Amino acid sequence: MTTTADELREDVRRRYAEAAVAADAGGCGCTEDGGCCGNVACDGEAASFGEALYDAEQRGELPEAAVLASLGCGNPTAVAELREGETVLDLGSGGGIDVILSAKRVGPTGVAYGLDMTDEMLALARRNAQEAGIANAHFLKGVIEEIPLPAESVDVVISNCVINLSVDKPAVLAEIGRVLKPGGRIGISDVVAENRLSPEERARRGSYVGCVAGALSKGEYEAGLEAAGFDEISVDFTHDVADGMHGAIVKAVKRNEPVSRELPLVGASATSDCC
Ligand SMILES: C[S@@+](CC[C@H](N)C(=O)[O-])C[C@H]1O[C@@H](n2cnc3c(N)ncnc32)[C@H](O)[C@@H]1O
Repeated sequence: MTTTADELREDVRRRYAEAAVAADAGGCGCTEDGGCCGNVACDGEAASFGEALYDAEQRGELPEAAVLASLGCGNPTAVAELREGETVLDLGSGGGIDVILSAKRVGPTGVAYGLDMTDEMLALARRNAQEAGIANAHFLKGVIEEIPLPAESVDVVISNCVINLSVDKPAVLAEIGRVLKPGGRIGISDVVAENRLSPEERARRGSYVGCVAGALSKGEYEAGLEAAGFDEISVDFTHDVADGMHGAIVKAVKRNEPVSRELPLVGASATSDCC
């Protein structure tokens, strides 16, 4: 059976809506059937995903519901070197954990935006930011393939385990290049495959909604970022997620010159029979 891009995106939205409702009820931020990014952290056994990736000091700065809803595969705020007064955008902000931490780092003269397509996640994130007493965080509804912000309006784009879930990765990378100011930077955590794994091999190692099957390879990430107008690109593996698949930190800086609109096709195809 072939799954279309729209169906795949709707699967992702539905699964993370369930996760938001579960986290809001004080439970684990993921359902138990193994199909959600971060579910392995729910039993406290694995540190590949979720709250275990934040240190005690950071967890202490956050409402419990934001920590429980954490479904990321890294800690982008720890690598983005945020500075006072900057504008930060978190793609796929979920329960708001990285937006709240970013808002605190950039302070009252800065702004932290969270963008997510799932209403339940947005509602949870807004409540978490309010509970944390944060006034400079704003949560936007939309998809990361069409970011609802003007060109050259953001200093730093962060994201935590979301780009692998996109059905159109070249569009996401182009949009990041569009909204960043010249010289702006990215600090992204994501699941990334070794170059030796084909899209079919990645799909055999885990589900799409579980943040495995849709992962880009290291080479695809590098090529996609270069085509989207970035320099100083690095993709560093940090921990194992599955055979040949890793949590990774992706960093890059937007070039000052105009970006080519001809982006190569990267990543798992938008249609899939994997899930
Ligand atoms: C694995 S969770 C990560 C949430 C958050 N970054 C964290 O670290 O806890 C993925 C989130 O991305 C959102 N998402 C997935 N694909 C998206 C897309 N194409 N556009 C906007 N949001 C998306 C989901 O609704 C969900 O909240």
